[in-house]
Amino acid sequence: MRITVPSFAKLNLDLRVLGKRADGYHELRTIFQTIRLKDSLGIDFEFAKQTRIELDSSVAIADNLVVRAAKVALEHLKVRASIRFELRKQIPMGAGLGGGSSNAAAVLLALPALAGRRITRETLLLWAETLGSDVPFFLYGGTALGIGRGSEVYPLPDIPAYHVLVVSTGIHVSTAEAYAGLGRSVTNALTSARESPILREFQAIAWALNGARLEQLPLTNDFEPAVFKTHPELAAVVRKLRRLGGKPARMTGSGSAVFGVFESDAEARQAAAEFRQAHCYRVRLLSRRQYQTQWRRALGKAAALSCFTS
Ligand code: C5P
Repeated sequence: MRITVPSFAKLNLDLRVLGKRADGYHELRTIFQTIRLKDSLGIDFEFAKQTRIELDSSVAIADNLVVRAAKVALEHLKVRASIRFELRKQIPMGAGLGGGSSNAAAVLLALPALAGRRITRETLLLWAETLGSDVPFFLYGGTALGIGRGSEVYPLPDIPAYHVLVVSTGIHVSTAEAYAGLGRSVTNALTSARESPILREFQAIAWALNGARLEQLPLTNDFEPAVFKTHPELAAVVRKLRRLGGKPARMTGSGSAVFGVFESDAEARQAAAEFRQAHCYRVRLLSRRQYQTQWRRALGKAAALSCFTS
């Protein structure tokens, strides 16, 4: 059986790092948002005596999450299969757009259905968080709150389908270095809202999200100061996006992609003309409902067994 599924990118509309946890990860508060920029993943699936996983990718990927996710899924399903993936990448890699995590989630969402098994989202969440902190979010899509490592996700109200311009400069920012650059200590990991202005401000944003215009919210990315210090070119791109009308204009994740939010397609188009096209993606935000519709369509008959049945 062969299907082709979408693997959408995300933005962190807001990202706060509270501090380092006992397990070495950082305690986060973030607002995830899927966008219409996507990779496409073709999957040929056949039961077999011996498991064989093959990946044909449009770009070389070192530590591939597609294959790792497939192994995790087959192991948990106790199924042997011959699987051939055809990955057509559009999402820039290592850019804070969640491409690898989204690819992994796409595999977890598709394989059980292809194997004729119904697996609950609760179970998929367990598999997902072993693959990476951002993977669980992609089991849902839309607008969501991420806490803990970022892997504990809760729904947030939909926000309007703003136009965004994502600019990927190709600058490589190491995630580990970005965290190290924050200099957050263990002690301020789990302070109360009363003591932490970060938590108070983040809560205010989450409560205001329903109905507010994004430009009115003090959206923040805690990685920006340290990353912009090392890569002033990124700060310059953000300033340019603001000058061109992007409100807000921010970095996503630990970078290096940055984005500007625009009210209309015309404004986004005008801004895009000021950037080199190869590095620039003009897309709209993608709501949870749209995300799930796209998935149901892609899965076809197999959707009946997926967690996208309504
Ligand atoms: O979970 P993931 O594999 O995406 O994390 C990659 C790296 O980013 C981790 O090894 C860790 O250094 C850092 N990280 C962190 N705190 C988080 C998420 C990631 O320190 N909440």
